Amino acid sequence: MIAPPETHRKERTLTRALLGWLLIPLFFLLAVSAYTTYRNAYHLAETERDLVLEEITDDLKELVSATFESNGRIDPNSLSFSLLIRDARDQRYFAIYNASGTLLAGDRRLTRMGAGIGSGKRATFGNLSLDGRKLRRAILKGGPEDLPGFEIQVAETTSRRGRLTLHLLRGVLVPQAFVLILSIPLIWFGISRGLHPLEALRRRITQRSAQDLDAIPVDNSPRELLPLITALNDLLLRFRAVQEEQRRFMADAAHQIKTPLAVLTAEIDLALSDTTCPCARPTYSRLQKATSRLTHLVRQLLALAHSEANAGKTHVLFDLSELAREVTGDFVAAAARRRIDLGFEGTDQAIPIRGNVMLVKEAMKNLVENALKFTPEGGTVTTSVRAFPPVFAVADSGPGIPEAELPLIFQRFHRAPESSTTEGSGLGLAIVQEVARKHGAVVSVGKSELGGALIELQFEGDAVSQS
Ligand SMILES: Nc1ncnc2c1ncn2[C@@H]1O[C@H](COP(=O)(O)OP(=O)(O)OP(=O)(O)O)[C@@H](O)[C@H]1O
Ligand SMILES: [Mg+2]
Repeated sequence: MIAPPETHRKERTLTRALLGWLLIPLFFLLAVSAYTTYRNAYHLAETERDLVLEEITDDLKELVSATFESNGRIDPNSLSFSLLIRDARDQRYFAIYNASGTLLAGDRRLTRMGAGIGSGKRATFGNLSLDGRKLRRAILKGGPEDLPGFEIQVAETTSRRGRLTLHLLRGVLVPQAFVLILSIPLIWFGISRGLHPLEALRRRITQRSAQDLDAIPVDNSPRELLPLITALNDLLLRFRAVQEEQRRFMADAAHQIKTPLAVLTAEIDLALSDTTCPCARPTYSRLQKATSRLTHLVRQLLALAHSEANAGKTHVLFDLSELAREVTGDFVAAAARRRIDLGFEGTDQAIPIRGNVMLVKEAMKNLVENALKFTPEGGTVTTSVRAFPPVFAVADSGPGIPEAELPLIFQRFHRAPESSTTEGSGLGLAIVQEVARKHGAVVSVGKSELGGALIELQFEGDAVSQS
């Protein structure tokens, strides 16, 4: 069975996780707040409405007392009773019992509670259920001097209480929920801003070239990121150590090969000059070519190893113009052998740059070597220098470098298929690239006015001021 593509998996982001971890407790707090607010609102509504109910009970008692005192009896159908308990929203009931427990007026379903409940000046409250509805009831007993033994009851449905509770609840919860919802984008923004250093670190790492194994600067990174940066720097340090080990091995190996190779070359030259055995000459000739190729490869490997070494410590101030003239001069004889017109265009002024002279010279040599190698006999190669910014350029009248080859020519051991007829190891431009990197320089490849390739090595404009 084919596994679903990775893209279908839900992407995990730190922002979302943090938002979740903040919002879940916030919603929990809102729920707790809703519960406590409801409890408080219910209690407040109950207290408020109980006061009203008590007032009505008191009024009813006064009315009963006045009526009873004036004519010694109570009219159960008195309009005053129904006027007193009337309410627009809630349904109210009342009951008046005398000392012997006889219902004088009101609703029989409000049963007499008897002694023990509701004695004293204040009413006693309780709940009861009537016709399937919940009712709140106030019970007030007559005192020794005022309706002794009487019991006055007033009960009401809880519609007003419910509405009041809901009103209070809404008054608190709606603004709270509103604030919580409003806070989501603010929290999101805050988290994004808070994670900014992480994003900056990511950018700093992704912008690095694969060769840049220098430690990541800590700068003013937040404390939480320091362990990560330290761990990364530790890893980079170990990488650098491994790389340095490999480079040293390559340099040592190339160096070790150099001596026997020189002996071999000398021996072959000697054998070739021996005229007593002409039949072996073709073999020696081939051997000479092979050893010359091998010598070139070893030289290039050594140059690459040196260019990869930490050259920063050996940087000095030197004249780019003078070095370019010297390198070009070194190739005059080789150019003449192939009838190539090798020229140098420079200024009389010095172009001071800071760097490793040996490495820059090696890079220049490789560029001139390439131009001479790939330009057909009778062609032209021109080296030049410019100040502001400091540039060393090599232009030739050769075939140029095809567009498709441009991303590949700086790779080690890469040689364009068109170059198969010429000799080389494919390390020259890799050396140039490495030297450029060590000097903060840029290598650019283009087309020259001579019709062939134009390769420029541009050093940093303020190269001198780095001293
Ligand atoms: N001036 C040039 N004109 C045309 N092609 C070039 C030029 N310079 C470089 N190239 C192309 O780029 C490839 C890589 O160059 P590089 O110098 O790295 O290798 P090389 O010259 O083949 O070998 P090496 O320099 O190690 O002897 C070459 O093989 C060639 O195809
Ligand atoms: Mg080369």
